[in-house]
Amino acid sequence: MEENVEKQVFSMPRIGDKAPDFKAVTTQGDMNFPADYKGEWVILFSHPADFTPVCTSEFMTFASMQEKFAEVNTKLVGLSVDGLYSHIAWLRTIKEKIEYKGMKDVEVTFPLIEDITMEVANKYGMIQPGEATTKAVRAVFFIDPEGIIRTIIYYPLSLGRNFDELYRVVVALQAADEFGVAMPADWRPGDDVIVPPAGSCGVAKDRMEAKDDMKCYDWFFCTKPLDEKKVWDAVKK
Ligand code: BEZ
Repeated sequence: MEENVEKQVFSMPRIGDKAPDFKAVTTQGDMNFPADYKGEWVILFSHPADFTPVCTSEFMTFASMQEKFAEVNTKLVGLSVDGLYSHIAWLRTIKEKIEYKGMKDVEVTFPLIEDITMEVANKYGMIQPGEATTKAVRAVFFIDPEGIIRTIIYYPLSLGRNFDELYRVVVALQAADEFGVAMPADWRPGDDVIVPPAGSCGVAKDRMEAKDDMKCYDWFFCTKPLDEKKVWDAVKK
């Protein structure tokens, strides 16, 4: 008789994949993801648990930056494997009681998904059993207006995210798309950008422009200036 071994296969979406769709209940009502966000960028992020300190510091920081993300056409969506009433109670406690790094009276108005069945967390590879089997790690998915996953970042339970970096990623992805360039290490608006060799870095040949202001150190490493105002005009349009 054949041995019946029960084996669960966990899949994780990858960069370039269509964001897996799901329907969920959130603190802001029902959600049909990613269809509800067509035409917008969205950051889907998970946290391990409500009523925990690192997560609290993260939610206060993210909520304080919500307007800044909205200016670059980016919505925020949180998720944990806690239930809706836990989410509501935790967010109320944050608003009423927690003061942290000058942030107080912070209202979290972006949706927080309840995922007690872990259906969404499993779909997105947010449960990483080596770290925890009953909680999501700190996953961050950047999804573009067409519903394609463009960047994924994971942090462990014990390390809070750098939200300036998450903002830099959104701006850099949008600017790279808009100008058909790639962004070098630590790029910030106003810095020179990389003009990729034709066909590389996902940049199509027809988007390449050989211009006088391009500086080439070798065939594979060319840069050019990209005016900071042009970047902000493009991403805040
Ligand atoms: C926290 O957010 O503080 C936390 C959550 C789960 C495990 C460890 C820390």
